[in-house]
Amino acid sequence: MDIKKFFDEASRYIMNTYARFPVVLRKGRGMKVWSSDGKEYLDFVGGVAVNILGHCHPRVVVAIQKQAQRLLHVSNYYYIEPQIKLAKLLIENSFADKVFFCNSGAEANEAAIKLSRKYSKENVSSDRFEIITAKNSFHGRTLATLTATGQEKFQKGFEPLVPGFKHVPFNDVSAINKAITKNTCAIMLEPIQGEGGVLVPDQNYLKNIRELCNKHTLLLILDEVQTGMGRTGKLFAYEHFDITPDIMTIAKGLGGGVPIGAMLTTDKFAPALQPGTHATTFGGNPLVCAAAIATIETLLEDGFILDQCNRMGKYLRERLEELKKKFPGLIVDIRGLGLMLGMELSKEGEPIVKACIEKGVLINCTAGNVLRFIPPLIVQKKDIDRLIETLEEVFKRLS
Ligand SMILES: Cc1ncc(COP(=O)(O)O)c(C=O)c1O
Repeated sequence: MDIKKFFDEASRYIMNTYARFPVVLRKGRGMKVWSSDGKEYLDFVGGVAVNILGHCHPRVVVAIQKQAQRLLHVSNYYYIEPQIKLAKLLIENSFADKVFFCNSGAEANEAAIKLSRKYSKENVSSDRFEIITAKNSFHGRTLATLTATGQEKFQKGFEPLVPGFKHVPFNDVSAINKAITKNTCAIMLEPIQGEGGVLVPDQNYLKNIRELCNKHTLLLILDEVQTGMGRTGKLFAYEHFDITPDIMTIAKGLGGGVPIGAMLTTDKFAPALQPGTHATTFGGNPLVCAAAIATIETLLEDGFILDQCNRMGKYLRERLEELKKKFPGLIVDIRGLGLMLGMELSKEGEPIVKACIEKGVLINCTAGNVLRFIPPLIVQKKDIDRLIETLEEVFKRLS
């Protein structure tokens, strides 16, 4: 096959919104992907925290095949069997009572923003609309979620932004306390900041924020788009912090590779959205729900995969710490939870990502200098050993 022709056609026909690496991925199984020229890669990116069961997990593939033969799509004008089953699974395994299905993380956050405004206006005070979010956060690329995102680099050029968002430093309870006004309706946070550089807050941070929300009748929205679905070693990251949110958004890992998002909330808040107030054509479509059911059932079966995530997260962290000892000038910090780990470097991470790709290992860099490891939760010791070997070679060569 003619790779150059591929790249030429991509630049001719596809908008240039992604800085892509020159690799055409064609096939995947478990931890591995293969490019169109037959090269094998070990995948520590996992579709950016999406492929929690690895690539093309047989149970997910079979569920999709079976559902595709039965029914691909019908409107939400009617009841959809797999949607009801998936909702029940999510509710039985979380704090929530009700779910709204959509197609991405940004859409789930849009739903959360709309629900918290509508509930607060109708039930607390008509002048409540403002949402406090954290600096350095990431909540999506639609106009409202982009405004919620506390990073100017993503907002530049798209002004005027949506009114009603305030950003305060992450992991700072008093900053949130000071930012609350009579107009505030909600606080929206990632339990661990992902795109911002894998930043874990102090153990009591979310508990204190929960208390502030209770005191001021604010909704606590947790954006678990990246941290949810087992990524941190528990099904949802809020479970680490001994609290429950009022609204939680999930996406990425939920469908095991198909596009599905969800907003979960309790019976107290859910009635604020009624027919005609919020909807999406594809939300909770039979095909994606069938994939998500297979994904969650596999994830939860015997607790085996969550256990694997915890054990491998610990092992990966230990091995990254070993590297830190070997390269003290280069590696500034290792942090994260479960299999959401970051390695902060004293220099740009991009050349390291490129060098790893050349050696057949896919890794990701976020916030400029943080290597982020978000592999499938089925990763094994031998995969981690190969990653560490590769990183060590690359660090030696580049330092
Ligand atoms: C925490 C968080 N929220 C929201 C999003 C946006 O999700 P999507 O790209 O599915 O719209 C992301 C994506 O990286 C994310 O990490």
